[in-house]
Amino acid sequence: MIAADRLQKFSDGGIGLRRGELGLSPYNLRWKRLFSDEAHFIFDELRVESLRLYHVGSTSVQGLAAKPIIDMLGSVPSLEILDRTKSSLESVGYEYKGEYGVKGRRYCVLYNPEKTTACVHLHFFQHGDPEVERHLLFRDDLRKLPAAREEYLRVKRHLIEDMKVSREKYSDAKSEIIAKIQNEAFHNRSPKKILAVLGAAEGHGGTLKFLQDTYASDSLEVVDLNKDAIRPFCYGNNAADGFQKIIVKALEADLVVLATPVYWYAMSGAMKDFMDRFSNLMSGEHKSLGESLYGKKVHLLSTGYDLRLPMGFEVPFSSTAIYFGMDYMGATYRSVR
Ligand SMILES: Cc1cc2nc3c(=O)[nH]c(=O)nc-3n(C[C@H](O)[C@H](O)[C@H](O)COP(=O)(O)O)c2cc1C
Repeated sequence: MIAADRLQKFSDGGIGLRRGELGLSPYNLRWKRLFSDEAHFIFDELRVESLRLYHVGSTSVQGLAAKPIIDMLGSVPSLEILDRTKSSLESVGYEYKGEYGVKGRRYCVLYNPEKTTACVHLHFFQHGDPEVERHLLFRDDLRKLPAAREEYLRVKRHLIEDMKVSREKYSDAKSEIIAKIQNEAFHNRSPKKILAVLGAAEGHGGTLKFLQDTYASDSLEVVDLNKDAIRPFCYGNNAADGFQKIIVKALEADLVVLATPVYWYAMSGAMKDFMDRFSNLMSGEHKSLGESLYGKKVHLLSTGYDLRLPMGFEVPFSSTAIYFGMDYMGATYRSVR
């Protein structure tokens, strides 16, 4: 069952729609935090290795009025693994509805204890399912293109206020406008700007080589943490080195790649120092930089001697991404054996 304080947070943020009802609420900045908190909660509850959670749907598009339900997209290594977590999800208030009309999906809804009001729609797919890419692309198009946002809102209002479509028919009724926006946006999607943050010991270069092979693209910029000398976190003022500049660069990039070798079953020390510095973005003068990371795509790239990444290697990256509302896109690994 959903705990009262968790439910209260949703209702304080204007989230919750009675069953069968349909209406739009003005965009609320609290929706970002509600997503991150709930995603963290699920992450902790399920403990599924390589789970990825993304904020999608209209509540994830700043400025867009939305049906007041947080839409979350989950990506898992396999649906069988997820099915085994059914009772964990149910114990924290989710109704596990199975495919529910969409092949290859697991659909879960978070209701209040009386089951009269829905707060979260959670859609799981397997890693690599094109549905994941499709949802993220559409959300990114809406975030980037004000004209698409306005048109989408106009159609949603028309369907709800003039056509009075039912809640069941609403999703299908939107499919035409979604396809139109996606077709138009396809031609406007600019080439990717990639920023890689490399944390490896000097002298060997295996991780840099893999990075360059993976992103053989002119738009790849590499920040080498050895050269930029990022200081370890301290509880005083960390402002005087290049950390902030790297974050500003990250905000300008379409994709941030965190590149680290496996050193003793974990990320390198240089990368850990860099990650610790995210604490400087949680409060104080750089809090707004931290908030701006919301929605940024992050990819992990690694090399090691062993055939696979060690257990749990991805967790600090995926959890940090969720904390800041970033999209964790998974890991690419090369064994140098
Ligand atoms: C200090 C150190 C610790 C390492 N620990 C591991 C390890 O735990 N697991 C593994 O698979 N490889 C380990 N390796 C091998 C490196 O991950 C591998 O050689 C990697 O490609 C090095 O990348 P680099 O050239 O960018 O430093 C270690 C190497 C070093 C130098």
